[in-house]
Amino acid sequence: MQTISITPSENKKQKPADDSLVFGRQFTDHMFIMDYEEGRGWYDPRVVPYQPLEMDPAAMIFHYGQTVFEGLKAYRTKQDTIQLFRPAENIKRLNRSNARMCIPTLDESMALEAIQTLVDIDRDWVPHKEGTSLYIRPFVIATEPYLGVSASKTYTFMIILSPVGAYYEAGINPVKIAVENEYIRAVKGGTGEAKTAGNYAGSMIAQENVAKKGYAQVLWLDGHERKYIEEVGSMNVFFKIGDKVVTPHLSGSILPGVTRKSVIQLLKDWGITVEERPILLSEILDAHKNGQLEEAFGSGTAAVISPMGELFYNDQSYVINHHTTGALSKRVYDTLTGIQYGTVDDPHNWIVDV
Ligand code: COI
Repeated sequence: MQTISITPSENKKQKPADDSLVFGRQFTDHMFIMDYEEGRGWYDPRVVPYQPLEMDPAAMIFHYGQTVFEGLKAYRTKQDTIQLFRPAENIKRLNRSNARMCIPTLDESMALEAIQTLVDIDRDWVPHKEGTSLYIRPFVIATEPYLGVSASKTYTFMIILSPVGAYYEAGINPVKIAVENEYIRAVKGGTGEAKTAGNYAGSMIAQENVAKKGYAQVLWLDGHERKYIEEVGSMNVFFKIGDKVVTPHLSGSILPGVTRKSVIQLLKDWGITVEERPILLSEILDAHKNGQLEEAFGSGTAAVISPMGELFYNDQSYVINHHTTGALSKRVYDTLTGIQYGTVDDPHNWIVDV
């Protein structure tokens, strides 16, 4: 494996106070970079001071959006060790996204070493306060200066780090969600399964529209029939109906979330039936009418668990669990964050030390 060269920063920044942390606005002292050229492969892995990039304006990332990214976190334990949560899952997904976007894949052990090396160098940036963490953002961009529509011949893989507080300022509080009737996030055969910038850029208009009406996020429906539930905002979605939990199956248009996979495993560990299958919006609304829709929540790395307190559809509001956080949502949240911060047993060996 190639050796990662390290150039330490000589101008250390002032670290933000743990109390003032928001999501994704401040960045640490260092970043990781590695380049790719057709014929040569990935080369020159290095940690350097965090700095702006100089790029050719014709670089293909700017024009055709050939890019992928990941998101994972490093957590500080009570013993002051630093740990990662299932990083290999993120790296595998990064490579699946790469394959979809015609970007050369990365050596998975090199990518993990890059994450560990960078987090270790900036380990003082991992905040201490409960609920805070260091968000890790690996990404690949197409750098060839060329305006033809074809895959770039050169790329840059980078990792940047951001100390973060809770994703939602309100913490784990139920949010209001509006069903999205006009726009769609993804279709089978499109790029919805890949973690690529365009999926997020294309979703912003829906979020902006509902925000004006007081909703936090949208509930995405499928692009073919507009009948099936896909995701909520940028998260996977779960519903507790009676004593079972249902979540949309990975149909080809849904992002295979690491948190989603972990939630399913925890629920199964607890003996709860989880069904991964197509879910009609009408099924959820019917369950609500019958008093069977007990809880609903989104899952993602950034917010972990985000309960849905209300669903708005066709001029009607469906209040879920009296707008409070349900017992199961809370148990999933407490267990996942407990494993992440090292206060709860980790029977599946999800934790990797830095
Ligand atoms: C997550 O829930 O982790 C996301 O995908 C949101 C992220 C793009 C900020």
